[in-house]
Amino acid sequence: MTERVFSGIQPTGVVHIGNYLGAIKNWVNLQNEYESFFCIVDYHALTVPYEPKELPERVLELGATLLASGLDPEKCTLFVQSDVPEHTELTWLLTCITPVGQLSRMTQFKDKSQGQAADSIGAGLLCYPILMAADILIYKANRVPVGEDQTQHLELTRDIARRFNNIYGETFPEVQGLFTKTARIMALNDPEKKMSKSIPGSYIALTEDEASIRKKIRRAVTATGADPNTIPPGVANLFALLEAFGGEEDAARFREDYQAGTIRYSDLKEAVAEHMLAELNPIRQRYHEIIADREGLKKILARGGEAARTIARQNLHEIREKVGLVYQ
Ligand code: TRP
Repeated sequence: MTERVFSGIQPTGVVHIGNYLGAIKNWVNLQNEYESFFCIVDYHALTVPYEPKELPERVLELGATLLASGLDPEKCTLFVQSDVPEHTELTWLLTCITPVGQLSRMTQFKDKSQGQAADSIGAGLLCYPILMAADILIYKANRVPVGEDQTQHLELTRDIARRFNNIYGETFPEVQGLFTKTARIMALNDPEKKMSKSIPGSYIALTEDEASIRKKIRRAVTATGADPNTIPPGVANLFALLEAFGGEEDAARFREDYQAGTIRYSDLKEAVAEHMLAELNPIRQRYHEIIADREGLKKILARGGEAARTIARQNLHEIREKVGLVYQ
């Protein structure tokens, strides 16, 4: 049996090349090998303050970005989470078997709620990992590609599935992370930190225009705060970008130049820009075509939602029977 993959991405604004190299590009490969479900998790986006009027646009932009990057609706099921409301019902059923202690000990919860009074922390932030578990388990997915930052959430998913199986009988498969080696892309202007949409000037958006991409790479920090014996983080980041965008041979050459002390950062940056643009130019073009045909885009997402919902409904029915919610 082919394994089933599920992963989610939040519609919270800018998608940058760190997100692309860390997750999306990987999904594009996975859709060829697995039965894949990729979900725009709008319910998750409600756990932090957001602008309701802007959310639908964020969702469509993300849908267009994913399609432009190469997700193919013929090969995977791409859909919007709230088009399958069954996710929330399963969340409730799982909430009832999840210990509060375990939720409150989650690293991400602690980080995000730090310094806030309990009365101002939404319960959604606390329960978010249960929603994530429900996303995965409602499809009985067994493989979940995620970044390192989500491993604790996956462990919780496994615990919840195990507890459910113990209480109500074997229902969910063992969930496993799918950790593919991807480059960790650092902030261009502060290469000790991870590239992030919350650090202005740190990122290149996936659909950014060519001139702006060239400018940001030209300005990328190369040699601050370096230990003289190791490659400075900004330079290492440029090497990583070059390799991630298909310039492995050039990167090997620049690494030699670095060792020899003959490297010219302007040449390195030029090479990074060329390789990056070769990959991003077509993505940007497709993005603009897709987003211009809003109705077509909505149709693709709606179709994905229907396909996902058919499976979610079936599985939820079985789950409802097990917990005693189906009356004859
Ligand atoms: N929590 C994930 C993130 O912030 C997104 C997500 C939601 C997810 N549901 C998921 C990832 C299910 C994998 C599987 O990145």
